[in-house]
Amino acid sequence: MPVWRINGGRHLCGRIDVQGAKNAVLPIMAASLVGGGTTHLDNCPHLLDVDASVEILRYLGCRAVQEGDTIVIDSTGMNRNHIPHGLMMKMRSSVMYMGAILARCGEVRLSTPGGCELGSRPIDLHLKALRALGAEITEEGGEVICRAEKLRGTHINLDFPSVGATENLMLAACAAEGETVITNAAREPEISDLQCFLNRKGADIHGAGTPEISINGFSPISCVEHSVMPDRIAAATYLCAAVSAGGDVMLGQMNPAHLETICTCLKEMGCSIVTGRESIRIRSPERLRAPRPMITKPYPGFPTDAQALLMAACLKAEGTSVFVENIFDSRYRHVDEMRRLGADIRVEGRVAMVTGTAALHGAPVTACDLRGGAALVVAGLGAAGETDVIDCGHIGRGYDDLAGTLTRLGAEVTLIPGEQCMCIAS
Ligand code: EPZ
Repeated sequence: MPVWRINGGRHLCGRIDVQGAKNAVLPIMAASLVGGGTTHLDNCPHLLDVDASVEILRYLGCRAVQEGDTIVIDSTGMNRNHIPHGLMMKMRSSVMYMGAILARCGEVRLSTPGGCELGSRPIDLHLKALRALGAEITEEGGEVICRAEKLRGTHINLDFPSVGATENLMLAACAAEGETVITNAAREPEISDLQCFLNRKGADIHGAGTPEISINGFSPISCVEHSVMPDRIAAATYLCAAVSAGGDVMLGQMNPAHLETICTCLKEMGCSIVTGRESIRIRSPERLRAPRPMITKPYPGFPTDAQALLMAACLKAEGTSVFVENIFDSRYRHVDEMRRLGADIRVEGRVAMVTGTAALHGAPVTACDLRGGAALVVAGLGAAGETDVIDCGHIGRGYDDLAGTLTRLGAEVTLIPGEQCMCIAS
């Protein structure tokens, strides 16, 4: 298994540009199927999840290739409407191919993505929404089969503002007759990026970023170009790294507006933060103090994906930092591993309390999921001595050259490759 070897205690300094967003490029790659034609995507990160998505597109009969930061997809030759279990298991977010294939073919078969490191990951909201559009859905032998002679626009209120369910619904509704209105929709910026892409492809979608999204049909445009938005969670990762290790770091090619809740916490910890139009500069104080409680919520609340990352930054903050994880059932698996570095953390159900310690020491630790693994690298930067983060392919799913990027900022991080093991992606 690959090992991220960190020699901690070195301050970070310098400027890096933030990668394109994993959680934007993945739904947009699925959306390239809707209406056929070719898609040119720029600012695409090099990630294991993107590789898995390219594999799925090729399996479906499309031409798909990533050259540098550009992905070119030609879905004209699509000749399959199902995704086998092995491909589905590589990437949890492949569930959003359901809406895209249903819109393109009128029928889709794929295996249920199942649980993952973050706890149970049901897709009931996805299925309920697609049924509301007129899809007939059966589940047999671990597979979901959706068929729709005709999808009809309707009003759908999501019981929870699920990101994936909102995206699947937007994709399927492109092929529906009449208007579809989604209320209690997820408001994450990645949903707005998907709306922008689909409208460039000939859709008529409005309201992304608000709780109400309307989709009014689709007149396919054969060739579309789009530049993927910056990755706000990767940006949060580098901000937290600068706090954990100490230093003065500038992030470029990003959108500061997407990190307001995180920057508020970091300022409460005593950090100096200066934002530009597409940049954030962070300087960490000599002594960190605990911020107000971080309660994870759907966007624009505090993002669950940044919970472990901010916890890593709080391990040496004076006082007690309180976290409440409301989105996933099991998103504190990094806590035991942080304790191995000397952290003082107590977990009671959804609440984690971190009492700041004067110092952390290096130790071998194990990444249990994507953001928890990245948080262990962040914590290792602030620990004296050597920390080995034993990975199972998690971190590479969501970070483009994390080791190289941190090294350019002055960290001592080496990725020691090992054979990739296949873990179910979160
Ligand atoms: C997306 O996952 C992101 N992944 C996740 O990022 C992110 O943590 C999550 O949204 C929340 O922001 C991608 O965009 C690829 P949800 P998704 O549907 O769509 C429950 C990362 O680290 N739920 O909003 O799966 C679900 O169990 C990843 O980059 C149902 O109960 O998230 C969870 O508790 C991790 N039924 C909550 O809703 C459903 O049908 C939020 O899930 C669907 C979801």
